Amino acid sequence: MTSELSPEKILGLGLGFWNSKALLSAVELGLFTVLAGGPADAQTLRARLGLHERSALDFFDALVALGMLERDNGLYRNTAEADLFLDRAKPSYVGQILEMSNLRLFASWNRLTEALRTGKAQSESAGDKDFFGALYADPDRLRSFLTAMSGISAGPAQAIAAKFPWKDYKSFADVGVAQGMVPATVARAHPHLTGGGFDLPQVKSIFEDFIAQNGLSDRLRFYPGDFFADDLPKVDVIVMGHILHDWNLEQKRILLAKAYDALPKGGALIVYEALIDDERKTNAFGLLMSLNMLIETPGGFDYTGADCQGWMREAGFSQTRVEHLLGPDSMVIAVK
Ligand SMILES: C[S@@+](CC[C@H](N)C(=O)[O-])C[C@H]1O[C@@H](n2cnc3c(N)ncnc32)[C@H](O)[C@@H]1O
Repeated sequence: MTSELSPEKILGLGLGFWNSKALLSAVELGLFTVLAGGPADAQTLRARLGLHERSALDFFDALVALGMLERDNGLYRNTAEADLFLDRAKPSYVGQILEMSNLRLFASWNRLTEALRTGKAQSESAGDKDFFGALYADPDRLRSFLTAMSGISAGPAQAIAAKFPWKDYKSFADVGVAQGMVPATVARAHPHLTGGGFDLPQVKSIFEDFIAQNGLSDRLRFYPGDFFADDLPKVDVIVMGHILHDWNLEQKRILLAKAYDALPKGGALIVYEALIDDERKTNAFGLLMSLNMLIETPGGFDYTGADCQGWMREAGFSQTRVEHLLGPDSMVIAVK
């Protein structure tokens, strides 16, 4: 029996940070952006990236073995996926979230054991009750965080645009909108919709730039505000993506009550996250996201679709349902 068991999975998981950091450093160095310009041999690539000769070849070949690069006749090129999603010059770039992970989360996760022992956040703004105020005090961190959000919401945004019955509604607002990936994607797909994004006032210019780049400034506007202090926009549909998981249970309930108050009868609330499966056994990404909220926030945690539907019904919503979006992400829809 014992001889059939292998430590391979355990070691692969335990040393998985090697894989992760090799990719994060490649993104930091802009390796995929350089190769998007055309294939290069090791010497040229090393010179373009400013790498020491000792380990450059191992680094490039590790990325080949990890499926991020291809090598033929000594020339390295991006895989199709890396070229589409990791070239900074393309609008499909999703590397912002990887840049933020490299810059902030990698170091903070090194203190996971401490976080588990104390229940206290470990990121650079740990201890600050005003997590976002502290994070946004530095303009570079503000931009880096908001663009990183576009990386994780680009996929779900397309699924939300495709799967929600938008034709039944006229207006919508994404609450906690960040750069605006969800409203831009939804508005592009559904030209009859108007609305915009609600977020802290510091986010305004970053949102407006992004919406202008997408040619949507005539239909999407910015609503500045603090969602704990101010009313939410009066629209037919409110979207909250990766919002509730930032906050403790009491705050989650306040936000759901605010959405309920702002919506008309028949209006809808869409909450989307990497929802944990109801059995809490299979969506590892959702469960690890919840640990990321431990690392990052004073009281945030992720939750199951059943949890969320329960809170929505307590807030007064009459119909609720869960729909899978893609990968680890699902949405919970509630109708007033
Ligand atoms: C985790 S991000 C989610 C961004 C986006 N919805 C997404 O899924 O990509 C949380 C967002 O909530 C916003 N936020 C945090 N506190 C807020 C507050 N008190 N009022 C309004 N927005 C707030 C942040 O600025 C940030 O854009």
